[in-house]
Formats: sequence, C-alpha cells, structure tokens
Amino acid sequence: MCGIVGFTGTKDAAQTVYEGLKRLEYRGYDSAGVAVMSGGEINVVKKRGRVSGLGGEILGLHGNTGIGHTRWATHGEPSDINAHPHSSGRFTLVHNGIIENFAELKEKFFPNTAFVSQTDSEIIVRLIDKFFDGNALAAVAKVSALLKGSYALAVMCTGFEGIIVVKYKSPAVVGYGTDGNYIASDCPALAGLCKEISVLEDGDLAVITPSEVKFYGGDLKEIRRVKKRNHAISAALDLCGCPYYMLKEIRENAAAVKATVKAFSSVKKNLKAALVGVNRVIITGCGTAYNSGLIAKRYIESFAHIPAEAEIAGEFRYKNPVVGSGTAVIAVSQSGETADTVGAAELSKSLGAKVIAVTNAPYSALTRIADVVVPVEAGPEICVAATKSYTGQIAALYLTACLICGRDSSEINSLPELINSTVEHTDINSLAQICASANGVYFLGRDLDYAVAVEGSLKLKEITYIQSEGYPAGELKHGTLALIGEDKVAVVLITDKELAAKSENAVEQVLSRHGKVAVITNVAECAERLSGRVPVIPIPACSAELSPLLSAAAVQLLAYRTAIILKRDPDKPRNLAKSVTVE
Ligand code: G6P
Repeated sequence: MCGIVGFTGTKDAAQTVYEGLKRLEYRGYDSAGVAVMSGGEINVVKKRGRVSGLGGEILGLHGNTGIGHTRWATHGEPSDINAHPHSSGRFTLVHNGIIENFAELKEKFFPNTAFVSQTDSEIIVRLIDKFFDGNALAAVAKVSALLKGSYALAVMCTGFEGIIVVKYKSPAVVGYGTDGNYIASDCPALAGLCKEISVLEDGDLAVITPSEVKFYGGDLKEIRRVKKRNHAISAALDLCGCPYYMLKEIRENAAAVKATVKAFSSVKKNLKAALVGVNRVIITGCGTAYNSGLIAKRYIESFAHIPAEAEIAGEFRYKNPVVGSGTAVIAVSQSGETADTVGAAELSKSLGAKVIAVTNAPYSALTRIADVVVPVEAGPEICVAATKSYTGQIAALYLTACLICGRDSSEINSLPELINSTVEHTDINSLAQICASANGVYFLGRDLDYAVAVEGSLKLKEITYIQSEGYPAGELKHGTLALIGEDKVAVVLITDKELAAKSENAVEQVLSRHGKVAVITNVAECAERLSGRVPVIPIPACSAELSPLLSAAAVQLLAYRTAIILKRDPDKPRNLAKSVTVE
C-alpha cells in the first residue's frame, strides 16, 4: 500500500531509488515519483502510471540523496499532481499511510490556502514547513504529534544531505549499505544492497546521512534500534525465466510448503506452551490469509474438537468480539503489516487472548504483537495475488492443528512432490479457455473443498476481473442456481471421497440448467463417473485433509492461465495492492 524508498550515500540516488521503487511496486502502481538533492536544491519528477514511466526523465536528476514513492491512491485520484513526492518551501516528502485528520488540520492551520493536490499527504509537508524554525527534525516530530492515522514518511530538506524518517502504523526499515544508507517500506526492497537493517517502531524518528543513522523518540532523545540480518536475497526477486511472478510463485508452492514444515519444528515448544488452557480458537486475516483461516477452522475443529471460527479481521476488530483468556487468536498475514489484521491482533491481546502470528515476514508489525510466531517460509512474494504464501499458510495451520491434539502430521512430508506434480502436469488450459469467455464463474465445494473454492474464486476475480463466487456446493440450490445459464461456468472441487456423491449433485444441477461445468478432483470413482460428461481435471491423490494443498495449486493455475488468455497482467491487477497498510 504505497512503497517508499530513500538513499543517501556516494552513488547516483535517482537510479538507486528508481530500482528500489521497481521492487516495491507490488505495494501500489498508479503513480510514482522521485526527488533528488542537487547542489542543495531538491528536484522532483513524478507522474501518473507505473514506475517505469519515470524512466527517461529521472536521468536528468543528479545527486546522491533521494527519495521515491510508488502510490496506491486513497485520497485523490491517480494523477501527476497527486503523485508523491509533495513539496512545500524547503521540504519534500513521500508518505505511506492515511492521515485521518487532514481536513481538520487544514481547516485549523491553512484555512484560506488552496492546496495543490487532493491528497491527505500534502498537509504534512505544509505543516513541517510552517513549523520549521531551523531544526528540521524538531519540525517533523512536532507535526507527527498532530497526525492521526498511519504514516511512514521520508522527508528531505533543502541543503541537508540526508533523510528524516518517521513511522507510525506503516512499516519502515533502515538499511546499512557499503555505499550509503537506505530507507524502505520493507526488507526485500533492500535485498542485495544491505546485509543489515533496523526496523523502526511506532513513534520512532530516524536521521539518515551517508555516514550514519541515528534514531530518536518523539521527545527527540536519542534511542537505540538493533541491527538485524536482512534475510531477503536478491536472487529471490529474479523471474527465473517465467513471464510473470505469479507463475514463478505458483511453481514455488512446493518449496514454500517444504520450508514451512521444516521451520515449524523450531516453534513447536513455544506454541504448545502458549496453547495450554485454550478452549476456543479464532483465526483472523484478510483476503487470501482469511481464506486459509477457513481451512484452519476445519482442521482445528475436526482434529482437536476445539470450537474454532474464521473471522475477517476488518469485521472482527469492530464487532466487540467475545475474546478472553481461554481464547487463542491466530492472526494470519503474508506481509504481517495488513492494518486490519494487526489491529485485530492488538485488540485480541488487550482482551487477554493468546496471539499467534502466522506470517511470511519475520520483522513485521504482527510479529511484535504476537506471543508466538509460526513462520511461513514462502520467501518474497511479489505478485499481488497471493499463491505460495497461501499454501505455506495452510501447511503452518495444519501443523498447528495437529500439534494442538498430538495428531500425526507426517503425511505432509510427501506433499511437496505431489504439489510439484500438480503444478507441472495439470492440464488446465481448456478450462481456462472456457472461463475466459464466461460471464461468471462459480467455484463450488463442500467442507475443505468449499474453503478452497472461496480462494479459487478470489484468485480468478482479482486477476481476470471475471465475476466469480465461491459457494458451498449444498447452497447452490438456495440462490446461486438462479444465476446459472449457458454463459456461466461452475468449477466443482471434489477431493473428499465421503462427500463426492453429494458434490456431484451440484454438477448435475448445473448441467440440467445448461450451465457449463468442470470438475477438479482426486477421487478416482468421481472422475470415472463424470468422465465423458463434463471436463474432469485430475489432480494427484492424497488424504482429503491435505488435498487443499493440491487443489489450491490447480485453481491458482486456472486463474493465471485465464488472465493470460484475457491479456491481463496477473502480477499487477487493477485497483489492488499487495500490502494493505491502511484500513
Ligand atoms: C491484499 C492482497 C492479498 C492478500 C491480502 C492480505 O488484498 O492483494 O493477496 O491476501 O491483502 O494480505 P496479508 O499480507 O495480510 O496476507
């Protein structure tokens, strides 16, 4: 949700910032801009469109200190004017977050001033310039104290060869390079550039110069922030010959599951201790992470017979939830920075729940709140649509559910091979052709298949823009069937032998209404019964409880292939961003 990056050192700042922005583009890509200090003056290039649109023009920016921004618009449409950086007087800044009281601040401090942009960010730079009395850091601190909402800011001041950073509820890391120092929204942006980073805490300020980094509290007293290893490696950002990150990341599903299983052993002891006395589990998250919670709920209830609920984080945190000391709240988030998920975890903790974070980001905000962190080891995920992080989350949640009740989890060790086989051999192209020309695609399933159906539908709609729903197969006849016709497709997931005949009823119901229907299954009897009547896409056989790891890969491939047929960019779907750090 907006990416910010900055550099001050001995090499060309414009090119360095530009490269950093390209790595952060998954956080937003409707406009971009760069500011560079040259001869004590700050020059800005900013434009509507993707980072690459800045290309030629930033070559005209010469200097060794610069900041940049890639935007996901909240206040003010994507436009050249609303693109960051924003400037006022001697200051120029980039902002990630939302200033909720920008209108009140404008009314109070600039009642008769026409602002240049429609953004909530312009007020910040105007205020910093207004409060500046010779000490830029003091002005930034003073303005931060007035802001309500969330912000990571990188601020430049004419004549000062450095960057001032302040962070509250939006992520920011400082990186220590050999040729200078960096600021970025996340660690992967600094992969290959900085072996060490420091993570800013809420309320921290930092002053970064070519030779040093200093941290301050809001009272401007110097504080210490530890240096940590930057685990992100630049090779992980390589496309490895794939046309899109989405395909590359689907191919990495197996590795994500394997690494997650391996890492789980290191947290078993703490996790087990945290779960003592727990008699209720709530799994919360947003988007795909919430969908993995739908699977976890089923695992925990059926394996451990403990009541479990999956809750959308943005709903859960505002509904006055019943949470107490016997409750464990499992907050699932690829980025660990999603505002609603972090908010839900904070609330749960304040209500006395044990908070368990399941995340792919080891230094994220969520990890700082949680009692225990269960790592998802998917590696950097660049495509906005989550794929390998979803299967990594399922693996982590499966192991957690097994741990709760001492269930044997060894079957999961054989899954990476089966996932690879699904990714390499599933022939999804003809179904993708059918979906590409459909006017709506419904994913149906029962129990775990329903949970994957919801994710399959999310994947398809977010990267192809085809109307899609994930529905429980049994609910079809209670409403959705009214939408079925020749221009609609139903994709039925059937991976549980016990429920296969019931789900096949849904196939018949769609066929009788002249809808198109296809089945993704690893139940041999089901494939036999339906072959020749409807397209059947076989996936490898395994237990019903681990089949989501295989059917997930199949529906991810279906969404990907359909997007390619429709000439959509699967990595950067319209209107979306990967890390949603605003509410
Ligand atoms: C955005 C992304 C989704 C992701 C969701 C939650 O909507 O586009 O792919 O599932 O945020 O993100 P998180 O980082 O919390 O898993």
